[in-house]
Amino acid sequence: MKALVLAGGSGTRLRPITHTSSKQLVPVANKPILFYGLESIAAAGITEVGVIVGSTAAEIEAAVGDGSAFGLDVTYIPQSEPLGLAHAVLIARPFLGDDDFVMYLGDNFVLDGIGDVVDEFRKNPCDAQILLTRVGDPSAFGVAVTDDQGNVVDLEEKPKAPRSDLAVAGVYLFTPVVHDAVRAIRPSPRGELEITDALQWMIDERMTVRSTVITGYWKDTGNVTDMLEVNRTLLERLQPRVDGFVDEESEIIGRVRIENGAQVRRSRIVGPAIIGAGSVVTDSYVGPSTSVAEDCRISHSEIEYSILLRGASFDGIRRVEASLVGRDVKVTLAPRLPATHRLVIGDHGQVQISS
Ligand code: DAU
Repeated sequence: MKALVLAGGSGTRLRPITHTSSKQLVPVANKPILFYGLESIAAAGITEVGVIVGSTAAEIEAAVGDGSAFGLDVTYIPQSEPLGLAHAVLIARPFLGDDDFVMYLGDNFVLDGIGDVVDEFRKNPCDAQILLTRVGDPSAFGVAVTDDQGNVVDLEEKPKAPRSDLAVAGVYLFTPVVHDAVRAIRPSPRGELEITDALQWMIDERMTVRSTVITGYWKDTGNVTDMLEVNRTLLERLQPRVDGFVDEESEIIGRVRIENGAQVRRSRIVGPAIIGAGSVVTDSYVGPSTSVAEDCRISHSEIEYSILLRGASFDGIRRVEASLVGRDVKVTLAPRLPATHRLVIGDHGQVQISS
């Protein structure tokens, strides 16, 4: 069995971070979201992995390499434009050959991994199997209707009036008949070859599309709110450890990891939180559910429930919450007079000012 990981796409909901970086590489608990998926593929006993890459190919390839760090053998499959999930399957045919495969969306996070569903599919194969999860508002997802045996009878992509609360999660298991399906369908109104349409084609052809409803934690991290939520969930499972330096005037409370070469001086860190290698926190408060990546500087500031990417710095800022801060961003205090805000913000940036 092989795996096909989708790490292309445009990431419009995570702009401006995705102007310069890939959405699948945004770190949660200081590790790119994509790495959790690759680790769960390796844990499921799959080694041959095709990774679909788009305009951020160079960055993804630099981060994942040949896959050996994950125990995987990775082949990159360039996609000229994000023309849809079924288009990714179409162009991956030479890599996939006639093998069964699991398709994994690189911005999805499945806390319990995919081992159980891969095992079930191996033991009891069917034409295709998908993971479903119950959500409050399914209209942002593929939505499935199933029969009493859990077979999918109807699928619709992002319906305005969902016919069930079962959203399609980003893990799909396929036999090679999917290649007939992706060749048979036409682009949707949004111009993409939809994998939901390919699955519906299989259902219409009387093939079996089985479903497994995930009861554990799953998230599509396509937007900032979900990214922060996955970060919180992962930090709650963090093994606390202090490898860096913490001075005697600082207080470390709860589940906190201070990585190698990080320094904490005259500060209070309330976990769950992680302070990345080489970062320096001085005279500050870092509160729960915060991930500070490598080489950040936080001084005279208060931050919680946030993700800071590499090299970000805050000086004199009280107080920051629910924020995703890009690489090498600098946030400083303006002079007292004139009392103005001065902004140099990338395209599609978002700023909320409290006064
Ligand atoms: O997250 C689950 C949802 O994923 C499902 O419920 C939907 O049925 C499914 O269509 C998909 O919807 P999204 O709109 O969230 O897909 P998105 O465009 O975010 O793409 C998912 C991943 O695949 C993301 O890592 C980018 C990558 N991708 C996407 C497209 C369209 C590619 O590599 N190539 C593509 O052409």
